[in-house]
Amino acid sequence: MKIAVLNGSPKVGNTAAMINAFKEGAEAAGHEVCVLHVGKMKINGCLACEYCHGKGEGKCIQKDDMEQVMPAYKDADMIVYGSPIYYSNLTAQLSAAMQRIYPIGKPAKATKAALLLSSAAPGPYTGAISAYQAAVGFMGLEDVGVICAAGEENGSAAKMEEIRAFAKAL
Ligand SMILES: Cc1cc2nc3c(=O)[nH]c(=O)nc-3n(C[C@H](O)[C@H](O)[C@H](O)COP(=O)(O)O)c2cc1C
Repeated sequence: MKIAVLNGSPKVGNTAAMINAFKEGAEAAGHEVCVLHVGKMKINGCLACEYCHGKGEGKCIQKDDMEQVMPAYKDADMIVYGSPIYYSNLTAQLSAAMQRIYPIGKPAKATKAALLLSSAAPGPYTGAISAYQAAVGFMGLEDVGVICAAGEENGSAAKMEEIRAFAKAL
């Protein structure tokens, strides 16, 4: 499978560590993984101008870094979202990258999705998971798993191995 991974963190930190473990596992199983660090990109929110559904014929009027993400939404067989928890939710940057799929509605080929979440404290995941589930539901993707790392689990050998094993089994 071609797997696109969107990292919603603005830095290279705990979410990136989870994504690296995912990439190692997925590549060991023969999958092709492309990581897009959307948290470091300039991606605005949707303007709701409907240009994409009219004159734009599926193209967004905004010329920003979403142009780097859209090819992945078109080519990937699976989309993996990674995010730190910010105020019990996904980051604004990742939310924007999810919602800006609006011009095409859903990924062209992808059928599966997964979510990797990193937080300082245990337990603040309900909001982020609901937002993810709603988005992938609209996109027609099957959620195949959510893995969370809280506090000291971040970067721990056990959590990295759990993620590697999850990715290998896809
Ligand atoms: C603006 C902001 C909001 C945060 N909100 C929460 C929160 O609600 N719950 C929590 O446990 N951690 C929260 N954190 C901590 C991050 O989720 C945590 O440090 C995470 O591991 C960072 O991942 P990263 O290194 O990939 O950016 C917050 C951090 C920031 C900067």
